[in-house]
Formats: sequence, structure tokens, C-alpha cells
Amino acid sequence: MVTVTPIHADFVAEIGGVDISRPLAPAEWQAVEQAFDRYAVLVFHGQKLTEAQQLAFAERFGPLERSIGTYVYGVGKRRRLERPELSDISNLDEDGAVIARDDERRLINISNQLWHTDSSFKKTPAKMSMLSAQEVPPEGGETEFADMRAVWDALPAARQRALEGLVAEHDYYYSRSLTGFDASTIPPERRALTPPVPQVLVRTHPVTGRKSLYLAAHIKRIYGMDEVASRALIDELMALATEPRFVHQHKWKADDVVMWDNRCTMHRGRPFDERSRRSMRRATVSDIGPTVAADWRPPA
Ligand code: OGA
Ligand code: MN
Repeated sequence: MVTVTPIHADFVAEIGGVDISRPLAPAEWQAVEQAFDRYAVLVFHGQKLTEAQQLAFAERFGPLERSIGTYVYGVGKRRRLERPELSDISNLDEDGAVIARDDERRLINISNQLWHTDSSFKKTPAKMSMLSAQEVPPEGGETEFADMRAVWDALPAARQRALEGLVAEHDYYYSRSLTGFDASTIPPERRALTPPVPQVLVRTHPVTGRKSLYLAAHIKRIYGMDEVASRALIDELMALATEPRFVHQHKWKADDVVMWDNRCTMHRGRPFDERSRRSMRRATVSDIGPTVAADWRPPA
């Protein structure tokens, strides 16, 4: 029997009574899916998964993304993980040794410590991410989640109306630049692989109908607003969305699996002593299409 234990009224639930390394029975699957739609973040303990088992479970939610590390910055390089659909969320190199502080991969990964939602820098962003932990540091390295539906609900109606219809520009290299990665040095061919993309600022969950703010560190600006006003608005909404009342912190144990709904949550990793090993891998499922209408054009 699948057990669902909510941590907050409608946000984060622990799932028990199921072994996700094997195919789930239809009723088990339904229980997990319903919990996912309602609680947006699901936590499983004691799940030792192979790469193939992790991907098989994730794929039930939709098509798998390929890890950006395999086609943007790590092209042709040997990886620690076998499957290109898995993102390496670790501080380890291809041989499993802790990577140097100035390694490009560390500079890229450190942006995961900024509040974001996965792949919002792609035209079709991520629906779901599933992170499984193999090794965790003794202290720090938690992952935090913000409930963007609750954030929306907390906004006064007039404010909600003012935000609806706004479209933001999300740019992979904008969030990288915030943590000191110098994007001006990358060749144009590589830059062209992740061009800036538009995303609506307010989303509606296709199953629950709940609205949420769609924010991320990838947001560079809001279309149609001047730069100063745009930055002020993003900063204000980010500050609101990440107030402690909207945030849950997950303290990792080895063999934990956490999956989250990228459409209505943000997350960030917390710092840790990087001499310790932190080994995790992420399967990511794409959403069904872009968040902006096909005929959307930036305002002149
Ligand atoms: C991710 C991510 C944060 C962390 O896997 O998408 O942002 O705590 N991880 O490692
Ligand atoms: Mn992430």
C-alpha cells in the first residue's frame, strides 16, 4: 500500500510503501501521480536505484530531457554517468574524484544554488525533475523548495491581475553570470545552443487548475518593461516567493529520491564543504510544449 504523508497542508509529501526500482502496479502509480499533482514535491526514502531504474520511473511522467552537460559544455568528454538523460548533480569528476574549485563544471553547477525551476531557459521547459542521492555531505547541501502556488494565492487580486499576461525572458547564461561564470568567453556556436526564450510569468496547473508564479534566476527581464522597472519587479517577486513561509528544506540521506513539479515550484541547493562528496543524479521530464502561445511576439 502506498502511503502519502503530507509535510504541509498542500505542499511536500513523503511517499512510503513502494519500491520504485521496479514497475509500479496501476493503483500505486495512480497514488503517486495524484500526490504529485497535489503536493508538487514528493520525497521517497531508502530507494537504491540504478541509472536505468531511475529513468524508467521518471519516464512514466513524460519524455526525458537530455542532460545539458552532454550537448552544451561537455560534448565529446567522458562522463561519470552513463546515460545522457541523467544530469550529474555532484561535485565529482568522471573518475569519481572531487572536482577542483576552478573547474568549469563547478562554476556551472554552482548556479543550482540560486532559486530556479529546471529548464525554464528552454522553449519547452521541464515538467518534472527526479533527483536521487547516492552520497551526501555530513552537513549542508540541502535542497530547498518554494511553493509558487501558495505565493500566487498570497498576492492581492489587483496585483494578480497586473501580473497576468506578462512574459519574461529566460536565459541560461544570465543565471550563470550571477555566479561569476564569464559567458563572454564562450564560442558563439555554443551560445547559440541555449538562446534566450520567453516564458509566461503566471502559469495554470493543467490538472489542479491552480495558478502559480513562474520565476527563476534565469529571468533576465520582463518584455515590454524598461530595465530598471523589470529588475525591480523580478527582485520583489523573488523576495516574496522565497520567504520562509513558502519554503521547505529537504535534508538529504543517501538513497533518498525527491521529485518536484517544475511548473509550480522553485528550488535551490544549499552550500556545503566542497571537500566532502555529494553525489546525486537527476532525471528530467519535459513539459508538453512552450508556455507562450505559438503566435506570441515580443512587444515592439
Ligand atoms: C537540480 C538542482 C539542487 C541541489 O538538481 O536541478 O537544482 O540541491 N539541484 O543539488
Ligand atoms: Mn535545478
